[in-house]
Amino acid sequence: MKPLMLQEGCIWHPGWLDGRAQQDLLEEVRAIVRAAPLFRPVMPKTGTPFSVMMTNCGPLGWVSDQVGGYRYQPVHPETGQPWPPMPQSLLQAWAALAPGAPPPEACLINFYRTDARMSLHQDRDEADFNVPVLSLSLGDSAIFRMGGVERRGKTRSVKLASGDALVFGGAARLAFHGIDRVLAGTSSLLKEGGRINLTLRRVSPAPA
Ligand code: SIN
Ligand code: FE2
Repeated sequence: MKPLMLQEGCIWHPGWLDGRAQQDLLEEVRAIVRAAPLFRPVMPKTGTPFSVMMTNCGPLGWVSDQVGGYRYQPVHPETGQPWPPMPQSLLQAWAALAPGAPPPEACLINFYRTDARMSLHQDRDEADFNVPVLSLSLGDSAIFRMGGVERRGKTRSVKLASGDALVFGGAARLAFHGIDRVLAGTSSLLKEGGRINLTLRRVSPAPA
């Protein structure tokens, strides 16, 4: 399917990964999870656990806890080990969908069981908001909500399916976004059901 502009700076590429590529990426995600087990972050202020479980790959990973708040760090919060390297397929996706951007440093991998969700938020723990964020989805479809740069602004929702890519950069880089719900039974990629979302981010300032 042709790419669609959801709003200025936000491009949706339905079916960007074909079935084979989804299967291959899933195998790579499984290998990452074996080396860097899923953990459940908590909100910095309240200590409320997220409904998603997470891991990361790449030189940096996004973590959240009550002591240190939202941040990127080079090691897994529980094992203390460096994050596994970013698979070549993700670097290729970045080169294709964020051409000219400096290399990504973090890939946050979110695991949604069918009852998990992600409340509206901005991705703003990175140094350079000129660099886009690239999202790839696997498994069950989900209702993704995207608004503007004001929390109370108008929002619209789209159904992100397995294999879809979404790039938010430019005017949409700081747009509020979240997952309203996962649509159970919409994909057979994950035998247990649920959804995986990977977001690639540049964390530090672009090299001069
Ligand atoms: C996120 O904003 O971190 C995840 C978005 C998604 O799951 O599609
Ligand atoms: Fe996000």
